[in-house]
Amino acid sequence: MRLDGRVAIVTGADGGLGTAISRGLSDAGARLVLHTRHAGASDGLAAELSARGGEAVSVSGDVRDPETAARAVDAADAAFGGLDILVNNAGVTSTDAFLDTSLAEWRRVLETNVDGYFLFGQAAARRMVVAGAGSIVNVASTRQVQAAVGSSAYATSKGAVAMLTRSMALELAPRGVRVNSIAPGTIPTGLNAGYVTDPAFVAARTATIPQGRFGSPEEVAGAVVYLCSDAAGFTVGASIVIDGGQTLA
Ligand SMILES: NC(=O)c1ccc[n+]([C@@H]2O[C@H](COP(=O)([O-])OP(=O)(O)OC[C@H]3O[C@@H](n4cnc5c(N)ncnc54)[C@H](OP(=O)(O)O)[C@@H]3O)[C@@H](O)[C@H]2O)c1
Repeated sequence: MRLDGRVAIVTGADGGLGTAISRGLSDAGARLVLHTRHAGASDGLAAELSARGGEAVSVSGDVRDPETAARAVDAADAAFGGLDILVNNAGVTSTDAFLDTSLAEWRRVLETNVDGYFLFGQAAARRMVVAGAGSIVNVASTRQVQAAVGSSAYATSKGAVAMLTRSMALELAPRGVRVNSIAPGTIPTGLNAGYVTDPAFVAARTATIPQGRFGSPEEVAGAVVYLCSDAAGFTVGASIVIDGGQTLA
């Protein structure tokens, strides 16, 4: 499970899951390119990782802009001389009911969660196939298979991420690049802060989770480190579900 010397891009590195994933990869020995939407947003995390003995540089921009992905790959090359790992993590949610979802809202979610993963995935994979090695982890969601009221745009985007993962995995495995995904359940972060603190929501949602609780970002990060490591060397196109059992029944 060690990643010593490997170079990893994490998108949305200042978010709840992105921060934990970045810490996990760094603690396993990887050198990090921390992507954030806004410049300076990962300065604190970069300093923290450095203080813990890691190495990190930052790059910023909207994931819907192809130039952002190109700059992230260039930053990995410039700072560390290559790219071994991409974690496609930056994403947004929407809670609009299907009947009330505007085309602008639909596009905001699909373009961020799907176009963004496509753009970063393609830019990273084009670099990785030159070296004949690499690992890409797409952060999907239990919503890739489980619909929910008020989640049509988000669930559709994550269903697309699931098939994007399998399609990338199929084409890239012969070129030495493994592509996998994780499917977290409910993890309290900024993404769901608008409702995950509502006692009625907490009671209703945890009642559907066999473990009876939400997960933590750290419980997600370990799966990413595993998938990026040689311990997962024969794992291709998999989806690791991290949901306390929510989607079992
Ligand atoms: N938390 C959960 O329960 C849960 C469950 C399943 C899957 N996930 C997935 O996990 C991933 C991370 O989510 P999170 O819970 O950590 O949410 P979060 O704390 O809100 O973090 C999301 C990150 O994505 C960035 N981002 C969003 N849109 C962007 C854009 N257009 N360009 C660049 N960066 C953008 C955000 O930057 P800004 O803050 O600057 O916008 C932030 O850094 C997402 O793909 C989400 O769908 C989360």
